[in-house]
Amino acid sequence: MTREQLQAAARAAAEATGSELVLDARLAPLLSLRVGGAVPALVRPRDARAVSDVVRALQRGRVPHRVLGGGSNLLAADEGLDFVVVHVGAASGPAEWDGVRVRAAAGTSLGALLRESLARGAAGLEWAAGLPGTVGGAVAGNAGAFGSDMAASVREAVLLGPDGTLRTHVVAPGDFGYRRSFVRPGETVLEVVLELRASTPEAVRAEADRVNRQRAASQPKGGHSAGCMFKNPPEGPAGRILDELGLKGRRRGGASISTAHANFVVNDGTATASDVLGLIEEARREVRERRGIELELEVKVWTGGGSP
Ligand code: EPU
Repeated sequence: MTREQLQAAARAAAEATGSELVLDARLAPLLSLRVGGAVPALVRPRDARAVSDVVRALQRGRVPHRVLGGGSNLLAADEGLDFVVVHVGAASGPAEWDGVRVRAAAGTSLGALLRESLARGAAGLEWAAGLPGTVGGAVAGNAGAFGSDMAASVREAVLLGPDGTLRTHVVAPGDFGYRRSFVRPGETVLEVVLELRASTPEAVRAEADRVNRQRAASQPKGGHSAGCMFKNPPEGPAGRILDELGLKGRRRGGASISTAHANFVVNDGTATASDVLGLIEEARREVRERRGIELELEVKVWTGGGSP
């Protein structure tokens, strides 16, 4: 599809659903790493219902599109992004609490949900203190840190399939693994149901503070990043391997391997996506050649066209 056709299709989907439309939208400001070019059109649905209506309209029209959550685990190329972006991170609405059970739209920020859980004395999300991103993205990638992850509290999810069908998924054993979940490629998370544990606001705050201190001591503070770039291979933590090979501080343009934690690439504000991708390839090559280990990316990379 041409740029004009993508824009016309996005306009029709936005108008039919009362969503906001941004033409020639730059992705970099929406991504925590702050790199990435422009897409022909970005649609911002208001709520989970509108998300599914927009995605379905694009599916029906076989319009290449991709869904953007909080943009905290994503690297978008500098150019050639020929698809419509549906920005779910803008569609939230209030979470519905029932004791320690909470139903939240996928676009709800993980930080906002943690703050609410803290006020209610519901434990289970403290590991996410200091993390950006949306709850939908966190479920899809089974985000985790400091000994816990999303898998510990997710009970259900409402998913939109690539064929436009809605399904409620009830979590079963085996649904989650290390940075892996039951959400399949092409599926969009619309809502999630979490079950936390009854505790007190003081205890939840103390644990979140502990996580914040640990994160501050081991991970970069300044610059823009997408968190860890690589999954940890069976041989050990990717950060340790990259550190042992002396890669901390390695630089390409405005991107460098963090001196605080070698599995983070940080953008000083001037990096391009090709700086970051080049640095990633260089690190991967060194690890392959010197250690015989194949590092797998943890961050998602958007290039070229989207799926219709
Ligand atoms: N290490 C080094 N040098 C480094 C970095 C780490 O020697 O530059 C060593 C540490 O000293 C430690 C070991 O490697 O002995 C593991 O490091 P760390 O505790 O920082 O954990 P990690 O395995 O590198 C994982 C997650 C992080 C999460 C932390 C904290 C992955 C890829 N990363 O990092 O998640 O915050 O544990 O629990 O699983 C993310 O997913 O984006 C992410 C940052």
